[in-house]
Amino acid sequence: MDSSAAEALFARTFSGTPTAVGFGPGRVNLIGEHTDYNDGFALPMAIDHQVIAAVRLSDTRRIRMVTDFTAGMVDSSLDDLANATSLGWAAYPLGVVWALGEAGVDLSDVPGFDLALVSDVPVGAGLSSSAAIESAVAMALNALWDAHLDRLALAKIGQRAENVVVGAPTGIMDQSASLLGQQGYAVLLDCRSLATELIPFDLAAEGLRLLVLDTKTSHAHASGGYGSRRASCEQGAATLGVAALRDLGPADLPRVQALLDEVTYRRVRHVITENQRVLDTAEALREVGPRAIGELMLASHESMRDDFEISTDELDVAVASAVAAGAIGARMTGGGFGGSAIALVPDEAIATVEAAVRAACAKAGFAAPEVYPVLPAAGARVEVRPG
Ligand code: GLA
Repeated sequence: MDSSAAEALFARTFSGTPTAVGFGPGRVNLIGEHTDYNDGFALPMAIDHQVIAAVRLSDTRRIRMVTDFTAGMVDSSLDDLANATSLGWAAYPLGVVWALGEAGVDLSDVPGFDLALVSDVPVGAGLSSSAAIESAVAMALNALWDAHLDRLALAKIGQRAENVVVGAPTGIMDQSASLLGQQGYAVLLDCRSLATELIPFDLAAEGLRLLVLDTKTSHAHASGGYGSRRASCEQGAATLGVAALRDLGPADLPRVQALLDEVTYRRVRHVITENQRVLDTAEALREVGPRAIGELMLASHESMRDDFEISTDELDVAVASAVAAGAIGARMTGGGFGGSAIALVPDEAIATVEAAVRAACAKAGFAAPEVYPVLPAAGARVEVRPG
């Protein structure tokens, strides 16, 4: 998607042209789920679906925003950010404004802006449409307000916006993937040190595709499951006397089992084994290539299904039918409780896998899934235009 739709929406609404256009990709997490807020490891990638934010500073304190996914203009103010929480989609860009202020931008001394936002990242599919908004907006405002913040700082700003203003207790993985991704690579992320390493994931060269299998079932992070899983992990770490579950490894599992109740033990076991699988996957990609990670993807899915209990029947059917039809590996991706699975598929098996997943979902009486390929894409960027 190029920026023409965002610029046309901008011109229709505000007239004239934007002076900065921010691009923020969604992400697919290859492996490492619910590890980020445990200071652990994850291996996400930015994808070739993105949010585009066309922005122009104004000579007022107002923030006027439109988008192509809801009608109507949100008209807010730099002096009224406390209201942002109740403003639906607008909480994401306004949350970024607030978090830029927390990070040192003097909001009493910057101009307001007009913003038109266009997205081809499906909402609710587990592909981080919210992080995509945050990084597109953060890149544009960082440039227009001369904030000179680096990508890691902008990732933290996106997470702050999400945690405090939107109210979702998420980790740093989505924003890091969106801001730090590179075409042809996955990003190995150490969520404690925030060190990153680019891991080659050149699917085209290997004759492979990564298919998104969107179950079209909803997931709601701010409520319920996500928060309760996070609480279990924190409780487990406290009982075990460690700062975060990152501090435990597979060798600790017998001791962990002796100290925790059965459910908390399984939650903790998922995180411990998942961290190891991320490191093993990165190693397999470095040493052998994408065809070597199928078993690890499947083990990750089973751990989320059985130990962390965040999968759904729809996701389980999508994963099992994809693998039975020739996928090298498959797993649910993202926060869970709905959304998408991903399947790593040889080019020659794409049609068979897609047909098999569709047939299995229909047979089970589930909604028809959306199936499409994604590529590891470049992270967020900004184009500054002459004013
Ligand atoms: C959501 C959150 C992330 C991460 C994943 C699970 O996408 O936003 O921070 O916790 O779930 O891995």
